[in-house]
Amino acid sequence: MKLLSQLFIIGIGLSLFSCTQRTEEDRFIDNLMDKMTLEEKLGQLNLLVGGDIVSGTTKDQGSDSLFISGKVGGVFNVKGVEAVSRLQHLAVEHGPHGIPLLIGADVVHGYETVFPIPLALSCSWDTTAIENMARISAIEATADGVNWNYSPMVDICRDPRWGRIAEGSGEDPWLGSVIAKAYVRGYQGNNMKSDSTMMACVKHFALYGAAEGGRDYNTVDMSLQRMFNYYLPPYKAAVEAGCASLMTSFNLINGMHATADKWLIEDVLRKQWGFEGMTVTDFNSIPEISTFGITEKENAAALALKAGSDMDMVSGLYIKTLKDAIQRGEADEALVDKACRRVLQAKMRLGLFENPYKYCRPERLDRDMYTDAHRATAREIAAETFVLLKNDNSLLPLAKKGKIALIGPLANAGNNMCGCWSGYCRAEKHESLLQAFKNAVGNKAEIIYAPGSNIYYDETTQRNAAGMRQLERGDDNAMHREALNAAAKADIIVAAMGESADMSGESASRAELTIPDTQRELLRKLAATGKPVVLLLFTGRPLVLDWENDNIPTILNVWFGGSEAAGAIADVVFGEKNPCGKLTTTFPRSVGQIPLYYNHLMSSHPDPQDGVFNRYCSNYIDMSNEPLYPFGFGLSYTSFEYGTAEIKNNEIRVDIKNNGTVAGTEIVQLYIRDKVARIARPVKELKSYRHVSLNPGETKQISFTITPDMLGYYDAQLDYICEPGVFEIMVGPNSRDLQYLEFSLTE
Ligand code: NOJ
Repeated sequence: MKLLSQLFIIGIGLSLFSCTQRTEEDRFIDNLMDKMTLEEKLGQLNLLVGGDIVSGTTKDQGSDSLFISGKVGGVFNVKGVEAVSRLQHLAVEHGPHGIPLLIGADVVHGYETVFPIPLALSCSWDTTAIENMARISAIEATADGVNWNYSPMVDICRDPRWGRIAEGSGEDPWLGSVIAKAYVRGYQGNNMKSDSTMMACVKHFALYGAAEGGRDYNTVDMSLQRMFNYYLPPYKAAVEAGCASLMTSFNLINGMHATADKWLIEDVLRKQWGFEGMTVTDFNSIPEISTFGITEKENAAALALKAGSDMDMVSGLYIKTLKDAIQRGEADEALVDKACRRVLQAKMRLGLFENPYKYCRPERLDRDMYTDAHRATAREIAAETFVLLKNDNSLLPLAKKGKIALIGPLANAGNNMCGCWSGYCRAEKHESLLQAFKNAVGNKAEIIYAPGSNIYYDETTQRNAAGMRQLERGDDNAMHREALNAAAKADIIVAAMGESADMSGESASRAELTIPDTQRELLRKLAATGKPVVLLLFTGRPLVLDWENDNIPTILNVWFGGSEAAGAIADVVFGEKNPCGKLTTTFPRSVGQIPLYYNHLMSSHPDPQDGVFNRYCSNYIDMSNEPLYPFGFGLSYTSFEYGTAEIKNNEIRVDIKNNGTVAGTEIVQLYIRDKVARIARPVKELKSYRHVSLNPGETKQISFTITPDMLGYYDAQLDYICEPGVFEIMVGPNSRDLQYLEFSLTE
């Protein structure tokens, strides 16, 4: 602690020192701001959405005069170099002071080359792959004019009813943190001034994933120790990785709107974490502060500004109301200056003042967009994200022979492979699973296809679920019959079922988490044929798969794997690749168990975990406490044997052997529990992991070193402490099947 406080003092010293050092860039911004009027400064805080200005043709909200008069600091959802150049030209050549625009976009899991949804990406546990996907996303997005990316989304989520669980990295704060850093490195690179890197924007600050009832945009109410230990770490990690911007969230936090939460933005983010970048609100958040009844509409902007929200996404309230609020004495002009400075600094860091058109080089499109190399990487990465949940009798991989019935509404739906944030994808270029299967087997096997069912029986529910990507509808009875005919002719049935792409993502909460009705009914009928069934599960969230687990021999969760998903699925189904993904969210047995997460605290009257109901214990009368598939779980086409783990000083060693007949990769996991602490600590927490690739029969030793950062936590006073004492160390293939060791930390 002494060392920590010394470092803290040195830190303060350094930052005081750096405050007095004006760089050339600071002086440039000083000079620029000296010349700017209050209106022009407010203009820098105004972020418009594409809409009519996308094409650069109509002149509605984004009318040219707004750019020319300096009333816009940035735009988002403006697609294409031509449209971007046009707007940049208006701002730079005709606007006051020639200030370039930020051009934002949600490039969350790829641009034209689409990668798996972030939840799937996290199941690779492969930070190199994730950094690489972010790098490729940056290359493609910047080739199309984008310089600011609304990603990574790092909201921890313990409730799969929330559709936006698809956009994050799951339930674990430590894994979420290492992944957050990988995204930032990939997007921003070492040099944001390069023309193929872009500014990252970590979102949604904060705690958006803890919405009550899993209902999007809903209230969050949370203790500070839960916040600091489990929900805030990934945002902090992104800040530590140098993420240059941050988006506030839509939700209330303990009664205050995140966008108006001065404690959160000024005290935690800026003062405690040292964030020096710019902040932006989420879509139209400022007026929503008054929707919550926190203030009158005319004061909402002043409140957001005071809290530290720099840029106003879409609402226009900064530019419309802050000048009057300043005159009334209800807002502080000095805060406008600070916010404007941070926006200008972001533009400076991107090199936009040196060359506003650096992202507007049409020749890059042919060179950099949806290239063979990008697609090949996307295909590789997609295969790494699939999680084999069950594989009785090694039904997978399939041999390329005989007759294979490929059945289900997602089997021939190329437009549904990409998942939630794929607005820039070119679905017409993507293979469907049916095409990929046919390509994979050539003339060695016959693929018999039937769509099988709608997504939902009910047309309205299907429409609600479909979002922008409509799926054709047919008569369910006739489709089921056709599917059973196809199954009757086949040796094996592959069912491509689950959620359609827009059943997860923003505003896609679900109360039921089963495979939708008509598909599940068809799956029952297919299982009843007695033929072997492989379920290829498309989903953006953990589903409740109790019936499937009991009745379907093989389940491969393929999530939404992106533009190259079809080929990647075929690679895994036919054994070119061996699946190695592991879950980063718990799969419950029932919605009633939610929230269900592995790093929970001990309860009073703990369940003895003897598999039966115990009166006066913390368990359910009608269901076990256990998940169906635990965090960290995932199978392989081979099997791995763990030797006896040993600990010596702070080194843990364990031998892993590939006991099967094919090569495979295992993700070996290390969990720690602080056995006695000032406040209750979780029963286990992931602290490290290793990928190990092994040939059949091969053994490798894996070692972990326990370091202080694995043992600390925020206590009730929010001091980060590391207490001497005994720690339980757990090693294994997932959060359930673990070997236990002990480690003592002395004073
Ligand atoms: C609203 C979403 O919550 C956020 O994630 C996104 O970045 C913005 N819209 C801009 O599209």
